[in-house]
Amino acid sequence: MCGIVGYIGKADAPTVLLNGLRRLEYRGYDSAGIAVLDDDRIVISRAAGKVAVLSDRVRAEWPAERFARVTTGVAHTRWATHGPPTEVNAHPHLDRSGDIALVHNGIIENYRSLRSRLESNGHRFHSETDTEVLAHLIGECDRGDFFQAVCDALHQVVGTFGIAVLSAREPEKIITARRGSPIVIGIGAGETIIASDAAAILAHTQRVIYLDDDDIAIVTAEGVEIRDLHNIPVTREITELGYDAAAAEKGGHEHFMLKEIHEQPDALANAIRGRLDFNLGSAVLAGMGTSARELADLQRVVLLGCGTSMHAGLVGEYAFEDLADIHAEVQQAAEFRYRNPILGSRDLVIAISQSGETADTLAAVREANQKGAFVMSLCNVVGSTIARETGRGVYLHAGPEISVASTKAFTCQVAVLLMMALKLGRGRRFSREEGIRFAREIEQLPALVGKVLRQNARIAEIAWEYAFNEHAFFIGRGPMYPVALEGALKLKEISYIHAEGYHAAELKHGPIALLQQGTPVIAIACDVPGKDKTLGNIEECCARGAKVLGLVTERDHETAERMHDFITIPRCHPLVATIPAVVALQLFSYHVARLRGCEIDQPRNLAKSVTVE
Ligand code: F6R
Repeated sequence: MCGIVGYIGKADAPTVLLNGLRRLEYRGYDSAGIAVLDDDRIVISRAAGKVAVLSDRVRAEWPAERFARVTTGVAHTRWATHGPPTEVNAHPHLDRSGDIALVHNGIIENYRSLRSRLESNGHRFHSETDTEVLAHLIGECDRGDFFQAVCDALHQVVGTFGIAVLSAREPEKIITARRGSPIVIGIGAGETIIASDAAAILAHTQRVIYLDDDDIAIVTAEGVEIRDLHNIPVTREITELGYDAAAAEKGGHEHFMLKEIHEQPDALANAIRGRLDFNLGSAVLAGMGTSARELADLQRVVLLGCGTSMHAGLVGEYAFEDLADIHAEVQQAAEFRYRNPILGSRDLVIAISQSGETADTLAAVREANQKGAFVMSLCNVVGSTIARETGRGVYLHAGPEISVASTKAFTCQVAVLLMMALKLGRGRRFSREEGIRFAREIEQLPALVGKVLRQNARIAEIAWEYAFNEHAFFIGRGPMYPVALEGALKLKEISYIHAEGYHAAELKHGPIALLQQGTPVIAIACDVPGKDKTLGNIEECCARGAKVLGLVTERDHETAERMHDFITIPRCHPLVATIPAVVALQLFSYHVARLRGCEIDQPRNLAKSVTVE
C-alpha cells in the first residue's frame, strides 16, 4: 500500500523516480508526487490521480535541462488513508523550513498528539495527513545532524513506516527507515535506489538489501550504511533478486492480469519443481523445517489469510482433512488476534500471503507465535516481512504479481498446500502408492491449466452473455465451495458486478430470493463429491429463471447439456481440479471486466499489499 522510491546517483534522477513509481503503481494509484534536490534546494511536484498525471505535470513544469542534471530525489504513489486523494494530501511532504522532504508508507498512529504538540510550537499544517506531521517532527528534531534528527523523530512515533527523507542541508544522502512497511535498497554501480518493492529496482540492479524493522540507513550514490534506531551499526546481507525486468512487464498482453493468468502453467511448474518425491510418494518441502516426528505429532492445522489467500486456505482445509486425516480450519487473519485463539505447540499455523506484508496476517502470525504454536508461512515475495518473521515456510516462486487482482498466487498457494497436505498425509494416512498417485496428479497441473487456457476465446465469447448483468451468484460444494468464493471475489473486484459466492446448498436458505429471470448463476458442477446435489441446486435456480454457466468435467456431456453455457475442466482429482476451475473463473471475470471497460489492473479503491489494518 503506497509505493515509495528514492534515488541517488546519476543524472536524470526524475526519470528514474517516475519509472519506479510506474512499477509500484499497483500499490496505490490515487495521487502521486516527487521531490528532488536541485542546486541544493528541494523542488516538489504533486498531483491527484495516476502517476501519468504527475509525469505530464513534471515534464511540463520543469525545464528539461534542469530535469536532466538532477541526481537525487524521492517519490511516492499513494493509497489514501488520512485525508482524500487530493494534491495537497499527496506526498512528498515538507517540514516547516521546506528543507526536508518525506515520503511515507504506513500509518503514524499517534499523529494527532504529535500534531497538537507541534502546533503549540507554532507549526502550521497544510494537509490532513499523518505524514506531514512526521516531516515537521523531523525538522523540529534537526539540530545540524540529519541522520540523528530522523532517529529522534522515529523514537517518538507509534505506528508503521517505510520512509525516505531528503534534506537540502545534507544533499549527498537520503535517509530511509522501516517499521512494518517494506524497504528494499538496490545497490547499483554509482547509483543506489530505495523502494517499497524490488519491482522499481529491477531495471538498475539485481543486488538488493532488505531492511529489517527499526533499521535506519544512510544511502549515498556509493552504497548504504545501516544502523538501528540507537545508532548502532547493523549488517544486512546483499541478496540477488533472481528475476529480470521483463518479469515486471506486460510482455505483449493487454493487461498484467491476463499475462499473469497465462503465466500459470509456468508459475505452477516453478512452484512444484523439485518438490515432489516419486520414490517416497511424498513432497520435499525443506523450508517447513519439520521432522517426520513433529509432523506425526501435530493435532491441528490452522490456516490464516485474507481475501484470495484465505480462499486458498479454504481449499487447503479440505486437502489437510482428506489427505492427512488432520483437523484443519481457516481463520480470517484480521479477526484472529481479537478473539482468543486456542493454540498450542502441537498446532501448525500456516500464514498465507502473496505479498508477505498484509498487516492483518502479520499481526495474526505474531499472535500465533505468542501462543507457542508451530508457525510457518506461504509467501510469494521473497524476503517479505511475514516470510522473515515466521522464519520457516515455503515460497511460491510464482514470480512478481503486478495485477491487483491475484491470480497466479492463488493457484500456486493451492498447489503448495496440496504438497504440504501430501507430506503430512504420508506420515499419517497415505501408503507409498497412494502418495505416488497423488504426486502424479499434482505434477499434471501445468498441463491441466493449459487445457483451460486454450478455451480463452470461447470464454471471451461466453462473457458477452453475462457482462451486462448487475448481480451474479457463484455456487459450489466441497473443495469447489472456496472456488466459488474466489470466483465471486474476482468478478466483483475487477468488473464491479455485485457477485456473491455460496455453498450450493446455502442458496435456498435465503439468497435464492434474489434470483429473477436472467440472473447469472455460475455453478461449479465438476466431478467432485456432492455433484449430484449441486445439479439439484442448479435445477432449483433454473426453475426461477436463472441463467446458468456451468463448469463441467470434460466429456461429461450429460451435465453440460443442462447448462445454458459451459466451460470444461479437465478430469482429475477433485482437490487438484480446484486449480483449473479457478483459472476458468479468472478468465471469465477478466473478459467480463474488459467488456465493461473497467480498469482491470488497477480497480477502483483497491491496492495490492494491504499494510493497514
Ligand atoms: C484479491 C486480492 C486480495 C489479497 C488479500 C491478501 O484479488 O488480491 O484479496 O488476496 O489482500 O493479500 P496477500 O496475499 O498479499 O496477503
